[in-house]
Amino acid sequence: MEYKKIYKEFIKNNKYKKLSKENHHGTSRIEHINRVAKMSYDISRFFKLDYISTTRGALMHDFFLNDELDNLNVKRFKIHPEKAYENALKYFEINDKEKDIILSHMFPITNKMPKYKESHVVNIADKIVSVYEFGRYQVKYTGALAIIVTLEIFNNLFKFI
Ligand SMILES: [Fe+2]
Ligand SMILES: [Fe+2]
Repeated sequence: MEYKKIYKEFIKNNKYKKLSKENHHGTSRIEHINRVAKMSYDISRFFKLDYISTTRGALMHDFFLNDELDNLNVKRFKIHPEKAYENALKYFEINDKEKDIILSHMFPITNKMPKYKESHVVNIADKIVSVYEFGRYQVKYTGALAIIVTLEIFNNLFKFI
């Protein structure tokens, strides 16, 4: 199945459409999500994994609006996977792998470890894309993120070989 076809289901949703107005790493959240989901799509196809769940999970991994988290007393980077899961559950049908992809995509920043190879793919893609976006739009965090990504890639490599 083509990437565009998978994406189509999501972009029809009115709440999901609002992600194009949300700021994320200095770009829009929809742009960030698409970068992560396209990379996850390519990697999961290459490794012959369940690429549909991988892509769908990636498309929902940051499905939240900034004002949904503004009043919560917890750091956004820690709590947003749960909010994204809550929204995904409300608007789309999701399977176990997609649930795990959304909830574990911030590991090791949060302590929810990815359970499936598909979750590791999105976890890595999210970090690579984030380094790229921070480098391009918000230079100050690039160094710290690059270190996390390098450690994460080495850590995850063993799951594939
Ligand atoms: Fe995220
Ligand atoms: Fe993300």
